[in-house]
Parts: sequence; C-alpha cells; structure tokens
Amino acid sequence: MPLLVTTVSEFRQTLHAARRSGKTIGLVPTMGALHEGHLSLVRASRAECGFTAVTIYVNPTQFGPHEDFAQYPRTLESDLTLLSGLADVVFAPRDEEVYPPGFSTWVEVGSVAKPLEGVCRPGHFRGVATIVLKLFTMAWPDVAYFGQKDYQQALVIRRMAIDLNLPLTIRVCPIVREPDGLAMSSRNRYLAPDERQRATVLYQSLTQAANLVAQGETNASRITEAMRRTIQAANPKQIDYVAIADPETLEPVETIRGRTVALLAVRIGKTRLIDNMILEPP
Ligand code: PAJ
Repeated sequence: MPLLVTTVSEFRQTLHAARRSGKTIGLVPTMGALHEGHLSLVRASRAECGFTAVTIYVNPTQFGPHEDFAQYPRTLESDLTLLSGLADVVFAPRDEEVYPPGFSTWVEVGSVAKPLEGVCRPGHFRGVATIVLKLFTMAWPDVAYFGQKDYQQALVIRRMAIDLNLPLTIRVCPIVREPDGLAMSSRNRYLAPDERQRATVLYQSLTQAANLVAQGETNASRITEAMRRTIQAANPKQIDYVAIADPETLEPVETIRGRTVALLAVRIGKTRLIDNMILEPP
C-alpha cells in the first residue's frame, strides 16, 4: 500500500522531504474510483519523476447543484490497492482540510473555459481551476499529469499555468479506452448493461468524424450532423453538444483546413459522458 496522508501539512512535509532528497515530483490529481485511465497518468509520472504523488478528492466546488456529487463513487480502499507499487504518496483529504471556513477565493479562467462544458456546467471550471491550483501550491510538483479525456479541462489548466507563471510542466496523456472504444471513466459504472452497450456510440461517432476528415470532408456542419444521426440511433436521453473546434482555443471551426478536435457530451440514461478525438485532414 502507498503511504496515505489526509492533512495538508503531512502532504507538504512528505513532498518537502522528497524534494530535499533531490527527487523530481510528479503530481496526478484525481477524484478516485480509479481505472486504467488514471493509472496511465501515474505510470507516466513514475517513468519521468523520482517521486509520484496521487491526490484523491471528490471536489465539491466543481459539481453543480443538480449534478452527481453525492452519488460520485468513493472507493478509497480499492484505489489504494490499485496504487500499490505505483504511487509514493496518496493524499486523500477531508473537505475541512481543503476548504477552510469562510472560503471565498476563486480562480476564474477566461475564454477557453467558456464554450462547451462551460455552457453546460456553469461554475465547473472555476471549481476545477481553484482545486488544481490549491493542489499545486500544496505539492509544488515539477510535472503535473492530466488526461486528454477531459480535453477542455487540460486546456483550462494549461492556460492557468501559463497565466499565473506556475513553475511546473503540464503533461497531457492519451485517452485510455475499453476494448470497444468507450473512454474509461469513473462514471461508466453508473451505466446499466444496455446503456453500457449504447454508450459505444460516442466513440463510433468520433471515429466516423475522423474518417470523414481523413477522406477530405472539410465542412464541419456536415460532419457534426452525421455524428448526431449516429448518436441518435442509440436513443440517448440528450445530446448536450457535438462540436468541431480549434484544438487550442476551442473556437468553433466551420471549414476544416488543419488539425481540429471533435468534442461531445451525451447523456445515456442518467449518465453524462464526454469524449473527444483529434481530427487530422489528409
Ligand atoms: P478525474 O475525473 O478523476 O480524472 C483525473 C484525471 O484522469 C484527469 O486528468 C482525467 O482527464 C484523467 N482521465 C480520466 N479518464 C481518463 C482516460 N480514460 N484516459 C486518460 N486519462 C483519463 O478530472 C478530474 O478528476 C478532476 O476534475 C480533477 C482534475 C482531479 C480536479 O478535481
């Protein structure tokens, strides 16, 4: 089992000792309910850094009032087992440790946080940026690892790191998928068997988009319409968005001339799933 710490001061002390002994620090922030997607980040950190810290904290400030904060899976024991031999320290704080009474300081990232998830989940990225900056200032990592699965989140954190001159490197690691293409997610465990089956349509619509672009299609609306038809066939509860955007700014693209990213958010039953794929023209 990795060393488990629950207070900010123990976490700081542990990392301070590692730094003093000359080790580079890798940080992998998570909300737990770990799967291979998370573990791929931990392995990337181990490969590059002498000391790997994983944080497990279901951050209340990034959930909207009608979202799944209360239901979010909390599986600390099995998470620790999965991290055996991978993480050097695990920080799993309680809310009181992270948010002092009267807490009222926020990090608000601008334009890249506004579209897509920013529209569907108001306040979400404010909560994410705030907790991630807090974790950064607790750990002062050399390198912090995030997944491309949350494409917009990675851009928001990159922007924050540049804008606040944070002395660290942000690495974004590839999406880890199930054999049938579904992107791994802690929320996949909400899916009933028939929903799990229907959820493969997200990946199918993204590969459809990638194929159309690779074949020379340049009209983004034609592609998103085709994706929507594919997704509708799986009878989703709702399509929050299907978009083709600039991979750095997330501004919508109409005519595809270079690298773009397709992003989507779809509700299958009660479960909201997101996924994305880079589109490369021929
Ligand atoms: P969480 O959803 O637990 O994800 C933690 C990290 O794992 C994120 O960087 C996410 O992009 C990455 N990840 C999740 N699924 C992945 C997959 N299938 N392949 C590759 N990487 C994957 O994202 C959060 O937590 C929170 O917002 C957090 C950054 C911890 C702030 O609270």
